[in-house]
Amino acid sequence: MGNMVKLIVDGTELEVEEGTVLLDACLDHGIYIPHLCHLKGMEQPPASCRLCFVSIEGIAHPVPSCTLTVREGMVVQTDTNAVRGLQISALRLLLSVHDVDCAHCPANKKCALQKIAKFLHIGLKAKGLEIYLKEPRVVQDHPLIDYYPNRCVLCGRCIRVCRAQNGLPLMSFAKRGFDTVISFYGAASTLGCKTCFACLKICPVGAITLKTPNS
Ligand code: SF4
Ligand code: SF4
Ligand code: FES
Repeated sequence: MGNMVKLIVDGTELEVEEGTVLLDACLDHGIYIPHLCHLKGMEQPPASCRLCFVSIEGIAHPVPSCTLTVREGMVVQTDTNAVRGLQISALRLLLSVHDVDCAHCPANKKCALQKIAKFLHIGLKAKGLEIYLKEPRVVQDHPLIDYYPNRCVLCGRCIRVCRAQNGLPLMSFAKRGFDTVISFYGAASTLGCKTCFACLKICPVGAITLKTPNS
């Protein structure tokens, strides 16, 4: 075990191994911070979901906790108004392009988006939100897997585990802006998928599903 550092999170002292990502340190100690794109142990966090903000003493603006490692004497607040404001904005943005139909979704009751919405006291069908959905509703190009763009939160976790598992990712982001989706490379490169399905397992929502016989 490496050197330990002490920090204070929401008034509680934590003792954590040096080099630990702040988000992991909090989660490991039962302090929940909303997050979608972070993957423990993976280098270069994309910090793309903009949910895991915390306030740090001495730093003017909230910072994504997945981009920091713990420091001796760090004083962290996970629940300031500024933090919650940023998290709610990020969540509303995600919900504005989300097809909320939990009853028909395989992620129902284990979905990270449901958990985050509950934690932030925001209904999944947020009031006053205009919803923009993509077409097609389901992409069925892959021989084994279906992809639901309107459930995808574009966290990129699937791409990163696919790369870790297969040496190079068999999937990537495609298109830009509002139209961004996950795209699988040609069917020839999906032979390894049969014994893998790491993307399906790591997806925090229900955007990747096993093909059903009649889907
Ligand atoms: S991904 Fe989550 S929030 Fe979206 S429909 Fe599925 S269970 Fe509901
Ligand atoms: S398919 Fe799932 S894991 Fe991949 S980017 Fe979308 S939400 Fe994230
Ligand atoms: S988990 Fe930190 S920005 Fe997504």
